[in-house]
This record gives sequence, C-alpha cells and structure tokens, in this order.
Amino acid sequence: MKNHKSDTAKAVKIIDGVWWVGVNDHINPLFEGMWALPNGMSYNAYIVRGKEKTALIELSRNGFAEDFIAKVEEVIPLADIDYIIHNHLEPDHSGIIPIIYEKCPQAQVLATAKGKNFLEQFYGEGDRVTAVKDGDALDLGGRTLRFLNYPWLHWPDTMFTYLVEEKVLFPCDAFGGFGALDQGLFADEWDLEAYWPEAKRYLGTIVASYLGHVVKAIDKWIKGGMGINILCPSHGPVYRNNPMSIISRYQEWAKNERGDKVVMIVGSMWGSTHEMGAVVKHRLENNGLEVKYFDAATAEPGQVLGEMLNVGAVVFGAPTYDANIYPRLEYFLMLFRSKKKNGLPVATFTQNSWKVNITPKINVYLEAMKSRIIPPQVVGHGSPDAEVKKELELLADNLTAAMKGAGSVS
Ligand code: FEO
Repeated sequence: MKNHKSDTAKAVKIIDGVWWVGVNDHINPLFEGMWALPNGMSYNAYIVRGKEKTALIELSRNGFAEDFIAKVEEVIPLADIDYIIHNHLEPDHSGIIPIIYEKCPQAQVLATAKGKNFLEQFYGEGDRVTAVKDGDALDLGGRTLRFLNYPWLHWPDTMFTYLVEEKVLFPCDAFGGFGALDQGLFADEWDLEAYWPEAKRYLGTIVASYLGHVVKAIDKWIKGGMGINILCPSHGPVYRNNPMSIISRYQEWAKNERGDKVVMIVGSMWGSTHEMGAVVKHRLENNGLEVKYFDAATAEPGQVLGEMLNVGAVVFGAPTYDANIYPRLEYFLMLFRSKKKNGLPVATFTQNSWKVNITPKINVYLEAMKSRIIPPQVVGHGSPDAEVKKELELLADNLTAAMKGAGSVS
C-alpha cells in the first residue's frame, strides 16, 4: 500500500496509542550555538497512551511552546498528561519546561537520578522528579514503558525508553540527525541517501566525543535481545520499516576505523598558504589517497567534523597572524582537541614571514591529542619556491607512508 506523506505540522499517529508531537525548527541557524542548520532541525516528542494512563516523552526547545502544545492537544488535553518522561535534559528537549510544568501540575516527572540533578540545576524543579533506575517499568494500562540507562549518548543522564508490547524504542539523541521533517515523519518517505550525510554530521559533532559509548550501547542493545519494530529518535525521521538502516550506519561510523581519507584544513589571508596546500593535496592524491580540503576561513565546522569520522590523517596549514596562529585555523585545533581526535598522523605547514615560527604553538595542540607528527613540519615564506615545494612533497609522501597499517582511531 502506498504511504501518504505525513504532515509534521500536525500530530502524527505512528501506531494505535503512539503519536509524534514534536516541532520543526526553521528559525534557529545553529544547533548548540555552533553547528549550522541549513535544513532546519526537528525536536521530536511522543505521546504513549495506555488504557489508564498517558505519558509524554520529551518536550522541545524554548520558543516553540505554542506549536508544541497545539500538537499535544490534538491528541489529549495537556492537563490530562499523567507522566512527563525526560530521556535527557539538554535544553533542546527541555527548554519549555517552565511553561509545560505550569500547565500540567499533576503530571509525574520521570528521569534518571542524574537527570533529576540537571532539572534542579537548570529549572529548580528537582523536587518534582521521580528518579528511575535501569530496568524500571511503568504500567500505563496494557502498555508498559521500560527505562534503560544508556549514559553518555551524549550526556551523562541519558536513558532510552522502550514500549515493551509493540517494541517501540525512544533512544533519545542516539540515531538522530540534523534537518527538519519536511519530507514527512517516516524515514520511508525520505530520500535517505541525501539524508545520511546529515545524520553522519550530527554524530560527528554532537556525539563525537563519545563514539566508544555508541559502539558499546549498540552491542549492549543487540545482546539484550529486546528487538525494535519502530525506532523513534529525538531528532530526524522515525524508522517504522527498517530501524537497522540507521543503527547499522551509526555502528559503522562510530567504530571510526581509519580509512584512506585525509582531511586538510588550510587557512590563508592572501592565498600563498593555499598554494602550499595545493602542492600537498596534489601529491597525496597522486599517492592514491582521498583528500577532503577545507578552507579554514569558510568551512562549516560540523561538515569538517562529519568528514573526520573514518579519517586516516589530518593536515593543518596556517599563516602567522599577529605573531600567533591564524585564528580561523586555531579554532579547528581547539575543536579537534575538544572532540578527542587523538592519535592520528598529522602534518603541518606554516608561514613565518614575520620571522615568528608558529609551529611550536600548533604542536601544543597536537601533543595534547597525542598526534603522530609527521616530518618535515614545513615553514614557508609566501608563495612556495622550488625548495619549499620539494619539502611539501616529502611531507605528503611521509604522511602517505605513516597511514599504512593504521588501526582504530581512539
Ligand atoms: Fe538533542 Fe542532547 O539533545
């Protein structure tokens, strides 16, 4: 039977007794104040109704309360909600708490013990929360919600909620992606080949520091043998036909095994550092490597981090600016250190036309990441002459050799 496109301007029924009541954000240009949202963003929330009780899973980012409440009330008056469940407390799912709590004072609030602490910290509402433990169950009348601790996906308070009878999993941020639900609620309505890069960019930014936890969580879930008929993440589409299509991709991306890809991030004020970068890029490609080259001045940081999954090596190129590292390049050094891009082979080339060598300043970051610094760390003086070109080619050859026999990136 042909599916009709679901209209996410309204509440959408997923199965009998389960609805999506989230919101689509086409207003905010950034997520977490850092990552571009060219296709918007969804903050998914769900209602589960049993014969006796009704639960609301997740809320929404601040600024969307009116839209959110309107969707909930297509299903049930907000004041009749019995339980509000927070899978975790990042404000994209909790920003409207002050409005919602006031409108349903009778609802019991459930979160993990760490979630209870965050509720107190952010909203002064810790006393309202009943902390649930791993494996606890909630009977809604013929329907059971089970709470499962999955910390660090990507906050310490994270849990999954599982609708036992119908095998519907609400896995919080896990298996999410960037983008509003303009193609409909369900993944089978989407052009998924176009969506996967946005899911990968989401994993590579929001969850990048916790990839090991993702791998362990998927193993734990599979070993638990509970099964999933429908996967309802907190961002991105709902998978009602083939939940493994996203889970297996997350599994592969999160393993983060090194490939033959080199990410180059090069900044330049007047072009000569890009001339150096072109020599390195050309040589690496001649050596059979795939090169993703980003201009540090204009690259979207999330896109760079998305490409850093399964990367084999990194090249940084920067001029000197005010006797320091060109700031737009230094931002990526800070970002990579924050996102634990540890243990990679890294090559550098710089410019010291003011007679200040910034290589030691770059190496402070690389040493913090336990990078394998590839010699020579080339220092140029404007457009590369024949001697500098030769050094850059040697650098590319040494980097190529270092990439052989690589294992998993830590
Ligand atoms: Fe979607 Fe970590 O909040």
